[in-house]
Amino acid sequence: MVDGRRVLANVIHSQVDLHAEFGGVVPELAARDHLERLPHLLDTTLERAGIGHDDLDLLAVTRGPGLAGCLLVGVGVAEGLSAAWSRPLTGVNHLWGHIYAAMLARPDLEPPLLGLVVSGAHSDLVLMPEHGHFEVIGRTRDDAAGEAFDKAARMLGLGYPGGPALDRLARTGRPERQPLPRPSLPGLEYSFSGLKTALLYRLRDLGDGAGPEQRADLAASFEQSVVESLLEKLDAALARTGCTEVVVCGGVAANTLLRRRAAEVVGDRARLTMPPLDLCTDNAAMIAAAAHFAVKAKGLQPTTVDPSLNW
Ligand code: KG4
Ligand code: ZN
Repeated sequence: MVDGRRVLANVIHSQVDLHAEFGGVVPELAARDHLERLPHLLDTTLERAGIGHDDLDLLAVTRGPGLAGCLLVGVGVAEGLSAAWSRPLTGVNHLWGHIYAAMLARPDLEPPLLGLVVSGAHSDLVLMPEHGHFEVIGRTRDDAAGEAFDKAARMLGLGYPGGPALDRLARTGRPERQPLPRPSLPGLEYSFSGLKTALLYRLRDLGDGAGPEQRADLAASFEQSVVESLLEKLDAALARTGCTEVVVCGGVAANTLLRRRAAEVVGDRARLTMPPLDLCTDNAAMIAAAAHFAVKAKGLQPTTVDPSLNW
């Protein structure tokens, strides 16, 4: 990464195959796989970037939020390399990374901006007045959007990972044939657990009668409810703050309907940036970008692992 904007190499090892047979992420396996893969991944990344470790000015590692075992492996390896290579090391907030993924997509993008971060564990509306500063103005009371998609996918008999599978199935369904409630809390709060229960009851009522077509309709209806609920609050936040830059990011921002509808909802009130698909889901480039700007704004950050780190 150069200047927090230009990616020299971004190598991703997906653990999808590892976890697929268990129908979800197994934390111990995830951490062990991190430990086994990291050294080789780092070598490959430097090789692809065409640089050596002498060329590095700064090392960065995610300190949270995330799975404790995985974070510990990352920080352990990063601290070892920092000592061995005599290079400074900074800790990075994973959520900041998702916002900075948008800066990689649009090198001229600068705060102030309004962000909607939708991932496996978060559905947060944040204001970013300047680099390294974030203020949460809305969040979920219960499930995150990604978690809701993953659980719905499991109910519909789709495997892991659920979000992308539900996205694919929804493309073939008609939501109006299986209407589901649209969650709506006052203010800028989200809630997806009622919608999840509604899907569960609908499937129970349909029993063996839920054929492929009905499942596709339900997937499309569930997706529509989540997406419209996410965007209803984004719309309200936009009206309230008058921001002229909007970022929608995180793994769920890879969703087909969300990408299309976000552009329509934001319209010409603000400029919308959604990272390309491979920068929406977790990746190292976004962490490097966040590190660059965080260190410029606030100096080196601690690397203490914090699985429930907040903004
Ligand atoms: O940001 P991310 O890669 O990891 C976390 O930080 O959690 O987000 C992962 C989440 C998962 O819940 C996954 O199902 C969801 O993003 N996701 C999607 C899609 N692609 C990934 N949800 C809906 N539609 C998609 N196309
Ligand atoms: Zn993430």
